Amino acid sequence: MKLQISSLLLASLASSTLAAYNPHSQHKHWLTSRADTSDDVSKVNNKDFDFIVVGGGVGGLAVAARISENENLTVAVIEAGGDGSEHEDQIYIPGYSYLNGLTVSDYDWNYKVVQQQVINGNDQTFGSRWPRGKGLGGSGAINGLFWCRASSDEYNAWNTLNPDSRIDWGWEEMQKYMKKSETLHKPSQEHIDTFNINFDEEYHGTDGPIQVGWPYYIYDPVKHWIPAYDSLGINIPEDGASGNNHGPVITTSTINPSNMSRSDPKAGYIDPLPPRPNLTILTNHQVTTVDFSDEKDADGNLVANGVYFGKTDGSTDSNDYFRATANKEVILSGGTVNTPQTLQLSGIGPEDLLQQYDIEVKNALPGVGHNLQDHAATSVYFNTNVAETWYELKDDQTAAVELEKWRNDDGKSKWSYVNQAIAYPDANDIMSDQLDNFSSNIQNNIDEYADSVKNMYNEDDTVIAGMREQWNITHGYLDKEVGQLEMLMTMLGGGPGEIGFQLAIQHPFSRGVIEIQSKDPFTHPAIDPGYLTHSADMEIMRQGVRFAIELSKAGEMGDYITKQENYNNNTDEAIDMAIRNDAHTEYHPLGTAAMLPLNKGGVVNTSLIVYGTSNLRVVDSSIIPIEISAHLMATTYGIAEKAADIIKTHYSQDDPDERNKQGSSSSEEGDGDSGANKKGIAIGVVVGIVGLATIGAVAWAVRRNMKKRAWAHSMAVSTGRGVEAEGEGSPTWGYKEGSSANLTGGVGAGGLAAAGAGAGAVAVTSQSDDTLSPSRPSFHSYDGFDGGAGVAVSDLLTNGHGYGVVPQHDFSRSISSIERAEQAQAQAQAQAHTHAQDEYQQTPSLSSTHDVHTTPLFKQ
Ligand SMILES: Cc1cc2nc3c(=O)[nH]c(=O)nc-3n(C[C@H](O)[C@H](O)[C@H](O)COP(=O)(O)OP(=O)(O)OC[C@H]3O[C@@H](n4cnc5c(N)ncnc54)[C@H](O)[C@@H]3O)c2cc1C
Ligand SMILES: *[C@@H]1O[C@H](CO)[C@@H](O)[C@H](O)[C@H]1NC(C)=O
Ligand SMILES: *[C@@H]1O[C@H](CO)[C@@H](O)[C@H](O)[C@H]1NC(C)=O
Ligand SMILES: *[C@@H]1O[C@H](CO)[C@@H](O)[C@H](O)[C@H]1NC(C)=O
Ligand SMILES: *[C@@H]1O[C@H](CO)[C@@H](O)[C@H](O)[C@H]1NC(C)=O
Ligand SMILES: *[C@@H]1O[C@H](CO)[C@@H](O)[C@H](O)[C@H]1NC(C)=O
Ligand SMILES: *[C@@H]1O[C@H](CO)[C@@H](O)[C@H](O)[C@H]1NC(C)=O
Ligand SMILES: *[C@@H]1O[C@H](CO)[C@@H](O)[C@H](O)[C@H]1NC(C)=O
Repeated sequence: MKLQISSLLLASLASSTLAAYNPHSQHKHWLTSRADTSDDVSKVNNKDFDFIVVGGGVGGLAVAARISENENLTVAVIEAGGDGSEHEDQIYIPGYSYLNGLTVSDYDWNYKVVQQQVINGNDQTFGSRWPRGKGLGGSGAINGLFWCRASSDEYNAWNTLNPDSRIDWGWEEMQKYMKKSETLHKPSQEHIDTFNINFDEEYHGTDGPIQVGWPYYIYDPVKHWIPAYDSLGINIPEDGASGNNHGPVITTSTINPSNMSRSDPKAGYIDPLPPRPNLTILTNHQVTTVDFSDEKDADGNLVANGVYFGKTDGSTDSNDYFRATANKEVILSGGTVNTPQTLQLSGIGPEDLLQQYDIEVKNALPGVGHNLQDHAATSVYFNTNVAETWYELKDDQTAAVELEKWRNDDGKSKWSYVNQAIAYPDANDIMSDQLDNFSSNIQNNIDEYADSVKNMYNEDDTVIAGMREQWNITHGYLDKEVGQLEMLMTMLGGGPGEIGFQLAIQHPFSRGVIEIQSKDPFTHPAIDPGYLTHSADMEIMRQGVRFAIELSKAGEMGDYITKQENYNNNTDEAIDMAIRNDAHTEYHPLGTAAMLPLNKGGVVNTSLIVYGTSNLRVVDSSIIPIEISAHLMATTYGIAEKAADIIKTHYSQDDPDERNKQGSSSSEEGDGDSGANKKGIAIGVVVGIVGLATIGAVAWAVRRNMKKRAWAHSMAVSTGRGVEAEGEGSPTWGYKEGSSANLTGGVGAGGLAAAGAGAGAVAVTSQSDDTLSPSRPSFHSYDGFDGGAGVAVSDLLTNGHGYGVVPQHDFSRSISSIERAEQAQAQAQAQAHTHAQDEYQQTPSLSSTHDVHTTPLFKQ
């Protein structure tokens, strides 16, 4: 066991040699613009804030930045991990963050799932790992950068599940808020043409904090993606963000095109802020529990009045936990694993569970930690006749040369590449003539599965009732253009020239659970995603494997793929066994603090307030009640943006001005842009813009409200003054606030001034685009983290020593590492191993299994 630990450490060290090639110190300026961020506990301990946000990830940083736009509200964020300064290359360099990323590092919680019923191989190496970002930016700092939305039906389902809500969470609303969080940067015409990039600006934001676009460099095989689907007769959406994502897209990534760096929650929502004394961010401290007042409110609800926290390294004695007071609210943004854990530790959760760990039951809520859903994934790998794939960056020399380019030439490097070719085939595409039978089998099987979930997880009837409604919706998706699988082309396989098609089930019927297994907040909860425990999920995965193989032969894709590396035995049994040996997370867990009615097992209401409390909110991916066909980041930002408006509107009631502005709004917590949001136009805006530019901006904004960016480009060129203004203050942020005021503020005098300021700021920020685009060969895109991660991770983990992963925490339900190792050896002989892992394992017995499937399926 010790030996294995040290091989893991050595592997990590080896993989960081590239980072050492160019000293981090030259990038220290990345950090200087940060808001008040430190691990100095005295800034938060024994202090009060209006809001305390638990967790500085995607939901947490976005909601904290938005609330603190109101100068009357103070916000503290407490983040368990570090501030990222130790890991800048691994966070900010897009491709580098895949091949040398932060999964299995101190920026990862390093969770593992318990032994799965259906997945044999689950506990070997990569398969059992459940990465979650631990540090500022959360999973948004370590993820695959995919920026994509689900279809309108899938957001509308949130309304269907909450029929009595006066707050709308349907597509139009979510689209509005996802747009609010993003700024789209168009790809170059050359990239559009070469890679068939399908997008339409109409569906994207123009002034949000998160910069999205396509990489500078895109590997050549991506050009076959869209045509291959076309040749199969599958729908090609006009833009995956349009509300119909059925079919293939070369999707956007969270990449800032000015320098091809990751636009993570910190870079987007925090770094551009001018000093904002209302926002305090404490790192390296973990919230342990929510502190509730002894008194309940007039409606009998618990009142959260603060949080307890300790140093994340566990060195704070539980008798000496720190405390901070929340005058208004505690907001849980710890994500799908930690939010239910914190609730359970604080006395809100399934009664039996809390009693088992001797935790006082403050509010028995059976849904907390339950209703867990995730996308399970596997990959089919192929050899190709192309010389250049991501694998070339596994070569130290090439990697170093490209790193230099990234650093010195505005990111114009192969390291800008990330996987971007994805597709969402629907049930008809993948099940074809078996669909009717499949569908009626599921319908007949619902009662049986409900019983089995009840037994597996000791499930409460309310939670089962909520699942039944979800299953009904999921079943209904079979007849709709709703993606059942995500197909994802990864440019990284197990060797030179290899690529992979990852496939992941998007609408699982299977349900899992996350429960504490100790009263100690520093002990990981037990995570059981219940992968493929519903047989329909296995069938979809099986058909997905066949679909991937069909795709590999489609159109010109077939001309360059030379060999299929795994899943070569096409019988149901063989494919199922291979899936059992390989399936793992696609990193999209949700549902553990579901926004559902209380009698349907819900944890939060549609204001995101935890039932039975007056002021404890959840703002993260755990509130999503039912899976969506998308990676979750854009949706989670949308949730945070909407939550911030709900919150700001609620608290502006105290202010007579705001009350007047809301006028006839009947809802206590409206869901539009709040008044508070329309001010603060001029934060750091554009000192050097000429008056004429402002006037021009006003005129244009009135005429073409939505096209500010197009205008801004020409304005920057024609005035030439935007150049001088660049670098003064925080143009990006000023621009955003100004233009969002413009968008929502109508034609009042304030609105026009806002438009002017906003547009002026646009001129400043987009000036840099204009400088870049003429000489830029254009942005390119790739796909790839999710498949590629397996490779990177297994590289780290195994390093020639076989399956040497030592769990940091042994779960009561998990098997021992010795058994794991034995299983792994056995599985290595099986036909379907994770191909990518093999290539990195020097162990002869493992690499020899490669020979099991060397028969080329087709020739070039
Ligand atoms: C490896 C990986 C790849 C992914 N790839 C993509 C992708 O390409 N595209 C995409 O859209 N999505 C992707 N996702 C998913 C996406 O990143 C997450 O769904 C999203 O970040 C969820 O946001 P969140 O706010 O719920 O949680 P997170 O972003 O994970 O933030 C939670 C934060 O809370 C902190 N925290 C937790 N508990 C405590 C506590 N008790 N005290 C203090 N702080 C605490 C954590 O350290 C973390 O910083 C990926 C995820 C992973 C892990
Ligand atoms: C919030 O910050 C602003 C400056 O951005 C300052 O004027 C204001 O006083 C602060 N408010 C509080 C409540 O600290
Ligand atoms: C990239 O540019 C943005 C502004 O466009 C800046 O905020 C960020 O710090 C830069 N990132 C790196 C890694 O240089
Ligand atoms: C329908 O599904 C059942 C259960 O999977 C299977 O046994 C049967 O052969 C299928 N029938 C047809 C016509 O495909
Ligand atoms: C199931 O969904 C259908 C629509 O697909 C709806 O008409 C029906 O009422 C739902 N049934 C239940 C029990 O929710
Ligand atoms: C394929 O798998 C089946 C089990 O489903 C097995 O009987 C058969 O021998 C396998 N074929 C090959 C060529 O390995
Ligand atoms: C959610 O619960 C809170 C606290 O009880 C309440 O104030 C709020 O109005 C509720 N929201 C909705 C949409 O019912
Ligand atoms: C902050 O409070 C002041 C004084 O009460 C008020 O004039 C102002 O409108 C408030 N700002 C916001 C954004 O609510």
